[in-house]
Amino acid sequence: MSVQPSVRRLTAPQITARKGGEPIVSLTAYHAHTAAIADPFVDFLLVGDSLGMVMHGMENTLGVSLDLMIMHGRAVVRGSQRALIVVDMPFGTYEESPSEAFKNSARVMKETGCGAIKLEGGTRMAETIDYLTQRGIPVMAHIGLTPQSVNVLGGFKTQGRTKDAWAAIEDDAKAVANAGAFAIVLEAMAEPLAQRITEQIAIPTIGIGASAACDGQILVMEDMLGLTGKVPKFVKEFGQIGIAIEAAIKSYAQEVSTRKFPACEHTYAMKDD
Ligand code: KIV
Repeated sequence: MSVQPSVRRLTAPQITARKGGEPIVSLTAYHAHTAAIADPFVDFLLVGDSLGMVMHGMENTLGVSLDLMIMHGRAVVRGSQRALIVVDMPFGTYEESPSEAFKNSARVMKETGCGAIKLEGGTRMAETIDYLTQRGIPVMAHIGLTPQSVNVLGGFKTQGRTKDAWAAIEDDAKAVANAGAFAIVLEAMAEPLAQRITEQIAIPTIGIGASAACDGQILVMEDMLGLTGKVPKFVKEFGQIGIAIEAAIKSYAQEVSTRKFPACEHTYAMKDD
């Protein structure tokens, strides 16, 4: 019996093979229906731990649990068919030891069906990245502004603003690439530094507030849709969904307050039944 799906998903090695080629398109996704809408247009969808802030109103990403990531990861995998799905490892689930990271990453992959995980950190995470990739877990790295370290960084600040900080960040990029990461997110990083890193490493760089020289870009979907209200300076809002939702809810509230309730002709007929 064949269990081949009708549409083949992109894989981590296919993303790596795009280094220096056609730009890699990606977005975050947290639920099934937005994943389904984005799926035909993106190469990968990241179930980012930013969901703690965007969906759950947290102040930062530190309170996000593994169970929460798994719940949203499953929804995004169910909603999509073609994009590679990458699930973020939340704070406290991978830093302590490579074996702890393996246990938790393997759980994420088994329970969500995702194709890769992402973790934050450069040189300090190289041993763990090597350990995971040797054991069948594709890892996307993430350096520059790493939001899980917000308390050490002293805020959500652009990294590499002065040239004397560049060498350490370049070393981070090389360390995770050499350890076997299949791609690397460069977040909120000085533009020339992101360009230098992109030129120096053999895996694709995915920029978010970094450089147009990166091999691809990722944005938080709700930010680029105009749903979150307050967005970082580099984010272009491609829609005004928040305003559209507000207008629709206002009309609804007006109709209900004048007792314009839609009547149900049959049991529960759908529009295209
Ligand atoms: O959690 C997230 O959404 C991320 C992206 C901003 C890269 O890590």
